[in-house]
Amino acid sequence: MLIARNIPELRAAVAAARAAGKQVGLVPTMGCLHEGHLSLVDLSRAHAPFTVVSVFVNPTQFGPAEDFSSYPRAFDEDRRLCEGRGVDVLFAPGADFYAPGHSTWVTEETVSQGLCGEHRPGHFRGVATVVLKLLNACACDVATFGRKDLQQLAVIRRMARDLDLPVRILEAPTSREPDGLARSSRNRRLSPAERAAAAAIPRALLAARALARSGSRPRDAVLAAAHAVIAAEPGLRLQYLELASAGDLRPAALAEPGKSVLLVAAFAGATRLIDNLEV
Ligand code: PAF
Repeated sequence: MLIARNIPELRAAVAAARAAGKQVGLVPTMGCLHEGHLSLVDLSRAHAPFTVVSVFVNPTQFGPAEDFSSYPRAFDEDRRLCEGRGVDVLFAPGADFYAPGHSTWVTEETVSQGLCGEHRPGHFRGVATVVLKLLNACACDVATFGRKDLQQLAVIRRMARDLDLPVRILEAPTSREPDGLARSSRNRRLSPAERAAAAAIPRALLAARALARSGSRPRDAVLAAAHAVIAAEPGLRLQYLELASAGDLRPAALAEPGKSVLLVAAFAGATRLIDNLEV
């Protein structure tokens, strides 16, 4: 596995793969890889034999009061995991991935509104901008993202469509721990008590979905079922809980199987966790 530290090194490796007739897949990450990321690698490899994983903790998607400096980093472990999963290139640029005085941004204006977009102003501008930079740097055929970050996925799909990007966006299902907690790099920062509290997040989503599927589908009733589970867990501080249309992530009045999705963000201690579940 090659470790590329800058765009020319990455492009040379991708050009050699193309010359050998291989399609190229990119899995963008912020590192601290876990089994969820590796499932993205597997999906990417199933569609494109030459796989690039990028590891870059993107400063522009963190707010001033957020956890950029304390975001977990584990490069040696990331390298070992990528090697073990058959990754061809680990692209790990430095802070100079952004040119000095960088002043060009990608702003999606519809699906980025509300939910995380409301609570993390500027977050999706940073995500869309860095993802476009990564796609340009790699010139990949496919790029793979996880459904755990459902709003991010919607923003990236919309950007790819609106800007005619020559890339196919693949999505992988949310990877979960045995107790249902969605896998996230931030989970490793949880204390044992916070980790136990965090398990109430998927339980809340499942309770709401069970109610919706039993026929009681008005928004308030469905959300109340999830609220009750979260309220019973003093170790969690809810940021938002929403029922939305799966198509555009706008608030939905009814929970409709196959058409609606539940989305949640909550803090366990200082760690912010997100999750979602289709009704
Ligand atoms: O999902 C992530 O890890 C990041 O938001 C991404 C897509 C790598 C952009 O920095």
